[in-house]
Amino acid sequence: MTETIPLPPTPVLETARLVLRPLAERDTAAVQRIFPQWELVKHLHAGVPWPYPEDGAATNMVQCLEDRAKGLKFYWAITLKGCDEIRGRIDLWAYDPERRDSRGFWLDPELWGQGLMTEAANAVTDYALVTLGWPHLYLTNAIENRRSARVKEKQGATLAYTEPYDFVVGRMDRQVWLLTREAWLARQAK
Ligand SMILES: CC(C)(COP(=O)(O)OP(=O)(O)OC[C@H]1O[C@@H](n2cnc3c(N)ncnc32)[C@H](O)[C@@H]1OP(=O)(O)O)[C@@H](O)C(=O)NCCC(=O)NCCS
Repeated sequence: MTETIPLPPTPVLETARLVLRPLAERDTAAVQRIFPQWELVKHLHAGVPWPYPEDGAATNMVQCLEDRAKGLKFYWAITLKGCDEIRGRIDLWAYDPERRDSRGFWLDPELWGQGLMTEAANAVTDYALVTLGWPHLYLTNAIENRRSARVKEKQGATLAYTEPYDFVVGRMDRQVWLLTREAWLARQAK
């Protein structure tokens, strides 16, 4: 039996360059414009439809807002400070000791390689492990998704194990990383 702790309302999280605010229905059109790019989608889980349908973002938005309303998952729109338009998304599942994929994220490829997702992930990690006091996060990525793995490495996560998993691009190993509250606090204290 799993034990899920229900979530509080999604807070606005601010970093040096970003504002993470609750995902909202008004974000649908921008998501439909940005998201359907092979490089962005190929290492996501196989449940993401490809080719991406014209109503893909709208369908997914309904699911996200339902999950949020049920208290299952946080969904943040990633925005650049000074512009409210969504440029990416970061999600966090409610704490469950048996969950092995606590977080998901994607970013507009125009913004890759500037450390922005690490910045967003750090804010969300701090919220989960410090503000909410969760004991750990498990984080995953396709083994070929070096960009995503690098975000975990930069956050101080430890590789726990690998296992086969189905991605949009096909079946390959996924890496499962562990980031504990203790490791996170020790890293912040350095
Ligand atoms: C994964 C993703 C969110 C990373 O966003 P980002 O803002 O570019 O990430 P950051 O800049 O914080 O960090 C990326 C790191 O990967 C490194 N990197 C970039 N291309 C790389 C490559 N081909 N091989 C290895 N590392 C690479 C960058 O140099 C950077 O590390 P550094 O700061 O040590 O130089 C973005 O690439 C994305 O949206 N990908 C598609 C969706 C996805 O795969 N989501 C994750 C599912 S698990």
